[in-house]
Amino acid sequence: MKFRVRLRGTFTGNPGWSLVKAILAPFNLMHPQGCSNHHCLKDREKFIGNIWECACGTGKMSEIIKKNGYEVISSDLVDRGYGESNIDFLKSEKKVDNIITNPPFKLGQDFVLHGLKLVKNKLAIFNKLNFLEGIRRKEKIFNQNKLKNVYVFSRRVSFVKEGQTKSAGGLIAFAWFVFDVNYNGKPTIDWI
Ligand SMILES: C[S@@+](CC[C@H](N)C(=O)[O-])C[C@H]1O[C@@H](n2cnc3c(N)ncnc32)[C@H](O)[C@@H]1O
Repeated sequence: MKFRVRLRGTFTGNPGWSLVKAILAPFNLMHPQGCSNHHCLKDREKFIGNIWECACGTGKMSEIIKKNGYEVISSDLVDRGYGESNIDFLKSEKKVDNIITNPPFKLGQDFVLHGLKLVKNKLAIFNKLNFLEGIRRKEKIFNQNKLKNVYVFSRRVSFVKEGQTKSAGGLIAFAWFVFDVNYNGKPTIDWI
């Protein structure tokens, strides 16, 4: 089944936003209903304690996590009308139980490195699958042996750009990267 999603504008300087916004809805990543085929992170991972959505944007993901019964703290660097604004996650020292977020793709490495210092349990980051590549990421992140699970999206999404009728995209593979600070080993890979 192909999904056609109309994009509704982007955040300046954050090209990843449109894709993420589009992909979240069709796959109901953490939606309480509609997760029958294990297309949700929530069916795979349990989070003990509170969850910080530290790049919450307009709160789409925060709201879904909340509906799943979790206590959610929401913040963003920019005031997007949701959660606490002007909070630079990369400078924050707030300790939390877990983090689930989708930062701008280019900041993925910084968010993981900083997040691992702040969580007591898990850090789940939504990013492109090729986040697994890279010498620096291998040295700085993956050699820490804290990456526990990678959930690859088995379906691709077609995108319809604002003002256009033809769908495009579907070429980028995405995954959830779940780190656990209490883990010390190699990651498993699965498909959602
Ligand atoms: C892809 S959007 C996240 C969307 C959000 N998860 C949702 O479901 O609506 C990325 C967000 O990261 C925020 N951001 C960028 N740099 C940041 C930083 N250093 N600290 C906190 N938030 C940041 C942007 O303002 C943007 O809202």
